[in-house]
Amino acid sequence: MTDNIFVNLRNDDKTVFKAKNYLNHRFLPDSLPHREEQIKQIAKYWVEALNDITPPDITLYGKTGTGKTAAANFAKNQLKEALEEYEDCMVDIKTAYIRCTDYTTEYQVIARLCQILGQDVPYRGWTKAEVVNAFRSIFKKSSLGKETMLIVILDEIDVLLKKDGDGILYTLTRTDNVAILSISNFIDFKQFITPRSKSSFRDREIVFPPYGADQLVDILKERVELSFKEGTVDDDVIHLCAALAAKEEGDARYALDLLKTSGEIADDYKLEKVEESTVREAKDKIEHSKVKEIIETLPSQQLRVLESILYLTKQKEEISSGKLFDVYKNIAKGDSVSYRRIFDFVSELELLGLISTNIVSRGRGKGRTNIIELQCELNILEESIWAI
Ligand SMILES: Nc1ncnc2c1ncn2[C@@H]1O[C@H](COP(=O)(O)OP(=O)(O)O)[C@@H](O)[C@H]1O
Ligand SMILES: [Mg+2]
Repeated sequence: MTDNIFVNLRNDDKTVFKAKNYLNHRFLPDSLPHREEQIKQIAKYWVEALNDITPPDITLYGKTGTGKTAAANFAKNQLKEALEEYEDCMVDIKTAYIRCTDYTTEYQVIARLCQILGQDVPYRGWTKAEVVNAFRSIFKKSSLGKETMLIVILDEIDVLLKKDGDGILYTLTRTDNVAILSISNFIDFKQFITPRSKSSFRDREIVFPPYGADQLVDILKERVELSFKEGTVDDDVIHLCAALAAKEEGDARYALDLLKTSGEIADDYKLEKVEESTVREAKDKIEHSKVKEIIETLPSQQLRVLESILYLTKQKEEISSGKLFDVYKNIAKGDSVSYRRIFDFVSELELLGLISTNIVSRGRGKGRTNIIELQCELNILEESIWAI
């Protein structure tokens, strides 16, 4: 049987993973180390619901990968579990989770909420007013049945507000018995809320700070136990992943990606265990695909600006705005745009995290200059640009 192709393949299929699915982004672990405080704060507001009082609106803030989505869903699941114990509640408490990148308009969110609450509403065809009426009718007191209360999580709410305005907040805050928990990666998402909605959206804010390296170690340790075979991931590997992710603004998602990619690379090389060098390779691989993804979406003029920055970086030149404009004109030839436009491009590249800018004072009477610096690995950027 040794020459059988299936037997050989199966024997070949050696892996460091025990259950890789525990490393997926959407997996919610049974415990969230270092988020106990934030979860308790959410619960302190939501516990009101068990006394038949609509909880206040809450907003969770924090950078990507600080556990906001996980903490909100954890609290939601705990509440549902508690509700099974308290069947004597006067109101019928319902919970809903909406990812605003999936439901991007007020209409879609309200229609989805109706469906979750058992009211069938089509995703298109009705007017907004009709959908809102159907939604509100769910909350009308009935003389016999219980009242309904809804606790709704609106994840990545900034996406919805930016695209469709703040009508969703206006509608939800003006419906009795609805409590909103909104989540945003951007502190300034409230710029999208107009005064008419702001007056009724008096939210309590809960901040999610970036994780430190030690905290990431705890998070990773629990996940390694679930997903990797015993003895395949040593402590120094975990510490390295944690340290690298702590540098990436304390992003737990990045730490988990690093771990998963390291395992995959170890499997590719048929290693018995994940090595520190594997982790470093994984870091490059992740950065590579991130940079590649961004570059593929850049308009060509912006790409030229980036090429100009790359050129000057390789020349080991300090990149001032004036110098960048000169090189750009050369690279772009007939296609060049105004000095002013270049600066819009530079700020966009900065927002994407590819470069940084820094105002430097040249000393008395000499004014100040904006100095531009590359923020990703030079060789990764170069390869990605050539690959286009
Ligand atoms: N304290 C924690 N313990 C365990 N896993 C965590 C913790 N915080 C975040 N994670 C995991 O890290 C990833 C990113 O977390 P997430 O809640 O999606 O972050 P955010 O919503 O703030 O961007 C998820 O896979 C999540 O399960
Ligand atoms: Mg999230």
